[in-house]
Amino acid sequence: MTKSVSEKGLRWYQDVRFGMFIHWGPSAIPARHDWIMAAEQISPADYEKISAQFNPTKFNADEWVSIAADAGQKYLVFTTRHHDGFSMYDTALSDYKVTTFSPFRRDPVRELADAVAKRSDIKLGFYNSLLDWHHPAYRFRKESGLAWSDYLEFLHGQVRELCTDFGEIACMWFDGDWPRHKFTDSEAYFLAGGSFEYEKLYDMIHTLQPEAVIINNRHETPQPGEDVQGFEQDLPGANTTGFNSPTVADFPLEVCMTINDHWFHIAGSTNYKSTKSLVGYLARSASAGANYLLNVGPNAEGEIMPLHAARLRAMGQWLQTNGDSIYGTRAGVIAPSAGAVSTRKGDTHYVHLLENVSDWTRLKGVPDTVTSARLLRDGSAVEMTQDGDQVILNVPDERRDGFDTVVVLT
Ligand code: GLC
Repeated sequence: MTKSVSEKGLRWYQDVRFGMFIHWGPSAIPARHDWIMAAEQISPADYEKISAQFNPTKFNADEWVSIAADAGQKYLVFTTRHHDGFSMYDTALSDYKVTTFSPFRRDPVRELADAVAKRSDIKLGFYNSLLDWHHPAYRFRKESGLAWSDYLEFLHGQVRELCTDFGEIACMWFDGDWPRHKFTDSEAYFLAGGSFEYEKLYDMIHTLQPEAVIINNRHETPQPGEDVQGFEQDLPGANTTGFNSPTVADFPLEVCMTINDHWFHIAGSTNYKSTKSLVGYLARSASAGANYLLNVGPNAEGEIMPLHAARLRAMGQWLQTNGDSIYGTRAGVIAPSAGAVSTRKGDTHYVHLLENVSDWTRLKGVPDTVTSARLLRDGSAVEMTQDGDQVILNVPDERRDGFDTVVVLT
C-alpha cells in the first residue's frame, strides 16, 4: 500500500503556511535565462565550462536562513539539482557536483542544514529535478550505452541521500515530470525514457522521512503518495498560466511563485511584485487552504538580492502583527469577494481586507456564531452591521493597513 506523510508532519506543514523557495546554481553566472542550457542549446561540455567556474564565496547559510526567519518563513526548499544536472551538494552518485567540479569545494546543502538545525522554527526541504539535461543516462543513452534504469538508480539514489544525510526535512519537491508525456522524442532536451517509478520513490521517502510531505510539480491531480497539490505561479483555481490543474477539494495545497519574473538570478531583472501584492498572495493562498512558497534566486556570488530580501522582510513586518491570521489557519468559509478573503481557526474568522475602494466591505456567508469584530493589529472594535444575509464591516481609510487590514470575527 502506498504510504503518505504522517498526520503530525502534514499538520506542521499546513500550519506554517509560508516558505522560501531557493533556485540557485551555475546558471546564476551567465544570468540570462532560467533554462539557459535548453534555451541556448548549450551542450553539456560547454555548460561544464560554466559550472566549473561556480564559486559563490559570499554564500552564508546563516544569512539566508535569517532572511527567511525575518520574513516569517518556516521552511526552505532548495534546488539540490536543477534541470542542468549540477548537484548542489556532495552527492556520492556523481562527480558533476559543487564540491569537486567547481572551485567552491563547499556543500551548500550541508551548510543550510546546519544553519536550520540551530533553530527550532525553520525546516529545510529539497527540490530535485526529475529531468536532467546533463546525465548520460537521461539524454544520451544511445551514445553512452546506458539504460533508463541507470538514470532511475541515480535519481532514486540521490533522493535516498537527501532523505538520509541531512536530518529531518520538511519536504521532497519534484519537478520536470512533464516532458515524459508532453514532448516528443525529437526534442532531445525532453527525452525521458520511461516511468520514474513513483510508487517506489514515494514509499522510500515516506519510510525514511515520515514527517516530510511530497510535492510533485506535475500540473496534474495528485496521485497516491503525493501529499500536496502544487500550483505554479497561480492561486488555486486561477490557472492564468494555462497549465495548472483544477483544485482537488479538501486536499493540502501549495502555491509557488516568483517575486520577479524568474526562478534563477537574471541580470537586470525587473518587474518585482510589490509588498502589498505579495502579502495579498500570501493571504489569498492561505484563504484557499494553500501554503505560499515564495522564490528567491541568489546571484553567482551567493547573495540573496537586496531587493528580494527587502520585500521578504517587509512581509515579515506585516506578519509580526498579523501572523495569527496566517499561521495555523485553514481555508476560509466566508465567501471571498474581489477585495476580501478570509482564513479560519475554528470559530475565529480572519477577514483580510486587501483592497481599499470604500470603507464598507460586504460579506456573504458569515457564520451566525459571529457576534464581534475587531482589528487584529490592536484589538480595537470594528463596526459590523447586518444587512439581510450579508454583514457589512466599516473600516475607514484612517484605520487601514497599507498591505492587508485584518478584521477578526468571533
Ligand atoms: C517550472 C520551471 C522550473 C522551475 C519550477 C519551479 O517547472 O520549468 O525551472 O524550477 O517551475 O516551480
